[in-house]
Amino acid sequence: VVNDGPPVTLSERSLDAVADYIKSGKVRRIVVMTGAGISTAAGIPDFRSPETGLYANLAKLNLPEPEAVFDLNFFKTNPKPFYVLAKDLYPGNFHPTISHVFIRMLSTKGLLHQLYTQNIDCLERAAGIPSELIVEAHGSFANQRCIDCKTAFPHDLMREHISRAEVPRCTRPNCKGLVKPDIVFFHEALPSLFYDRIHMADTADLALVMGTSLQVHPFASLPEQVPTHVPRVLFNLERVGSLGSHADDVLVLGDCDTGVRKLADALGWREELEAEWRQL
Ligand code: APR
Repeated sequence: VVNDGPPVTLSERSLDAVADYIKSGKVRRIVVMTGAGISTAAGIPDFRSPETGLYANLAKLNLPEPEAVFDLNFFKTNPKPFYVLAKDLYPGNFHPTISHVFIRMLSTKGLLHQLYTQNIDCLERAAGIPSELIVEAHGSFANQRCIDCKTAFPHDLMREHISRAEVPRCTRPNCKGLVKPDIVFFHEALPSLFYDRIHMADTADLALVMGTSLQVHPFASLPEQVPTHVPRVLFNLERVGSLGSHADDVLVLGDCDTGVRKLADALGWREELEAEWRQL
């Protein structure tokens, strides 16, 4: 349900009012929640967009259902589809987007309280966001290990296997277990850091939700952690989750880079944003 009542904190439910709120100096703690939609402009498909999403394009792997590619039980029986996909997703070939750089600007201006991302592409790190401000709720490709004995697997060997879409096995002779990046698969627990940091949303002055369908829990419950009087701004192609139902929710529907550029214009940060993005 969309709440069309008067806002409590903002002067009106618009990006200009959000910019005024930030410029007022009252905003010191911004929490940002992101999904695959902020990396599509980098050339990484998201998961659920009808035509271009990963799940619509896995037919060649003839999976029981698309999400099986990230299912731990399926991976144990057949790890090959994941490694075919990993070849397309592996970090190193992609460039952070305007949205990533905007989040980095928030941190350089001392306004970023916490970034919670579902993305495994490490583009937040590549954009220069301090790692202590990033919660990679679904892990990332940054590290990998044997799923049986947990022994870490060497990066260079991993890169080789991924480039050939080959399945890596544990280096310990009497183990030979399957190796998997530290990506959170379905039926796996999220990193404890996610649970340690959830409550930073309780003390936010502003929340930005960007490029996510909010289909996957427990991440999808994060926007509910934000107190109802705290403005929540959604930058997404379509309305998702409960966004729009709080008095100070602002819906910026459409391409997230376009929405972020509009906010940067209203803040007077646009030139700086474009320059930082070009320098990356
Ligand atoms: N600008 C704004 N929104 C966009 C853009 C864009 N350029 N591109 C895509 N979107 C939106 C889509 O409309 C959709 O609402 O981003 C959202 C992406 O949703 P998903 O594809 O479901 O991605 P995400 O929400 O990150 O998925 C969550 O699902 O498969 C698991 O673990 C995986 O982390 C992933 C989780």
